[in-house]
Amino acid sequence: MNKIIIFLIALAVVFGEKKSTFNTIKSPDGSIILNVEVEQGKIYYSVFKNDKAIIDKSQLGIIADKFDLSKNLTQKNVKRDSHYDTWTQVWGEQKEIVDSYNELLISLGSDKDRYLGLEIRFRLFDDGIGFRYELPRHWRTKEFNIMDEVTQFNLTEDSESWWIPAYAYRRYEFLYANTLISEINRDKFSELVEHLHDPRIGPEAVQTPFTIQRKDGITIAIHEANLTNYSSMTLKTNGTSYMECDLIPWSDGVKVRSGSPMITPWRTVIIGNNPSEITMSTLTLNLNDPNQIEDTSWIKPGKYIGVWWEMIGTNQSSWGSGPYHGATTEKVMKYIDFGSKYGFDGLLVEGWNTGWDENWCCTGDGENFDFYHPHPDFDDLKVAKYAKEKGIRIVGHHETGTQIDNYESQLDSAFAYCQNRGIRVVKTGYVNDGSQNIKRFDENGDVHKEWHHGQYMVEHFRKVLETAAKYQVGIVVHEPIKDTGLRRTYPNMLSREGARGQEFNGFMPKDWNNKANHTTILPFTRLLSSPMDYTPGIFNLKDYRYNSPEDRTINTSHHIPSTISKELALYIVIYAPVQMAADLPSHYEGHPAFQFILDVPTDWENTITLNGQIGEYITVVRKDINSEDWYMGSITNDNERQILVDLSFLNDNTDYKATIYRDPIDGGWEIKPEEVEISEQFFNRNDQYLIILPSGGGQAIRFSPVK
Ligand code: NOJ
Ligand code: CA
Repeated sequence: MNKIIIFLIALAVVFGEKKSTFNTIKSPDGSIILNVEVEQGKIYYSVFKNDKAIIDKSQLGIIADKFDLSKNLTQKNVKRDSHYDTWTQVWGEQKEIVDSYNELLISLGSDKDRYLGLEIRFRLFDDGIGFRYELPRHWRTKEFNIMDEVTQFNLTEDSESWWIPAYAYRRYEFLYANTLISEINRDKFSELVEHLHDPRIGPEAVQTPFTIQRKDGITIAIHEANLTNYSSMTLKTNGTSYMECDLIPWSDGVKVRSGSPMITPWRTVIIGNNPSEITMSTLTLNLNDPNQIEDTSWIKPGKYIGVWWEMIGTNQSSWGSGPYHGATTEKVMKYIDFGSKYGFDGLLVEGWNTGWDENWCCTGDGENFDFYHPHPDFDDLKVAKYAKEKGIRIVGHHETGTQIDNYESQLDSAFAYCQNRGIRVVKTGYVNDGSQNIKRFDENGDVHKEWHHGQYMVEHFRKVLETAAKYQVGIVVHEPIKDTGLRRTYPNMLSREGARGQEFNGFMPKDWNNKANHTTILPFTRLLSSPMDYTPGIFNLKDYRYNSPEDRTINTSHHIPSTISKELALYIVIYAPVQMAADLPSHYEGHPAFQFILDVPTDWENTITLNGQIGEYITVVRKDINSEDWYMGSITNDNERQILVDLSFLNDNTDYKATIYRDPIDGGWEIKPEEVEISEQFFNRNDQYLIILPSGGGQAIRFSPVK
């Protein structure tokens, strides 16, 4: 029977109208296989891991207003290549990165137009695949609008998935839903996580990185790399395990304004045997261009404190003018004293400029911020001089309220101002409660409302990054566009928010804040894309918030579902080259657990995820780039648990003193969140260690060689 079918297929291929072609390529370790077929004028790919199909035949193609490169295609040429290289990061989770892949470049012609062509480049790494579309230069397609990208992900199993909705009002700042792929939709999200109110515009779709775990354990994350001159990709769903690329449109419905030659971002599928493996993937960085900033000596990882939690967390001060204004000269100088005493690199000052007083939030149409004139209470020159004397740098703050035109008109002056004042890092912000609510003025001065994640904003964020680099300033973006590995090309792209951060624990009461499992989901989802400015390190976890700056009675509805030991562990679990110690100086001063925040580095030679299950727990170890010290962070969700770890990651022939910060065994986020037990133990690489975590707890360990 089979022979007959094969014979019939062969006949169809020989006598049929169109010739089918079939190409196959493997990852360097052979565990991932990708097939590409052109059949009946359409191109498809499929993916196998450990000989199991994980993505079934899925179509590829680009549809523009001037051409349709999703059908009538003929394979013209195939080129293969292999690559092995290592490169060094300016800063990162690990110093050296291996870039090893096999490549397949398929050239296609259009049967309808002999001048049209499309190339698709596939790269197979041991940790997943990437592919992108490349359109050669041609006069007929000099300018065009992409109306759709036909990139399908036909997942073979309806697996468990972790997702946040696209086309929703709060950008990426949502808790994650955990459902089958077929169950993804806004009603389900409203039922499980948070009610998504009207207007519900746009299709049912999720943001990337989008992570799934199959029943056999294989874990997959779909994302993109090098999002440049394009719109960001979301994944549209249809109630099955099938998903397809959905590009966020401009306000007129065009997906991407482009022209030839065009190279799209890489569509990536990170693939691991288990969740821990995907957290160590380097594919996204490998699919970005090498560093473009020649002199990187000014880009320095480090730690910072801030005039911040007293506004967003304890509610004792304000960003704007008045008796409770936080960023006064006197207050900032006190923070400088504290930061300098403990060797912090930076001090974030929010509310230093004008524009905060009326209605700046959250319509995208409020008061205009000024980015180089200080508030009258803030003597910027005096502060700059004092900071310099004390060996600490001010971290600048540009809240734009998403008034893009206003910000772009001041961009050069704003960053020149930073350079003049010795500011080397700026935190930017794009608060706006509505995703398609960003004002864009066209050539006639007419206003259009754009999505936070469309091409308009992708290009804006790049403009800011490049301008900042020109003035030797690094960027930490809040309410950003998602990261796609750009930090390789622009190492001044230090960190970003792009998820629910600690701030939700600041201003949201118990029922609305981040749940104990949130930080056990982030490493397998949002953190796959880049460092995050989560701002860990809160020590006062209960009864920390006033009702208002005027009414200094405690608002008892706030309780952060964390423990001090878990807050410490987050410095290891969540990677960022610039980490904040987010709590107030007075909550740190004299506290024995503060020592861990002072010790923990933010630049690493190596990182290993020892274990983890999505939404349950994770244990990460990292080796300091400047010493032989190792650090461990382990956290759990609401469940208490014990995890036995092998210490074989430690260096050979070395005895270590471990300084351990842990919760009391009968503690946890609800019971004794602010109690920390600090102890010392001695280990070498042949030992094992039992991590005991109470509900919502964590553990942080510094391993230092015994001299
Ligand atoms: C939201 C940011 O995430 C937060 O860190 C900042 O303080 C406020 N916006 C004000 O800019
Ligand atoms: Ca935010």
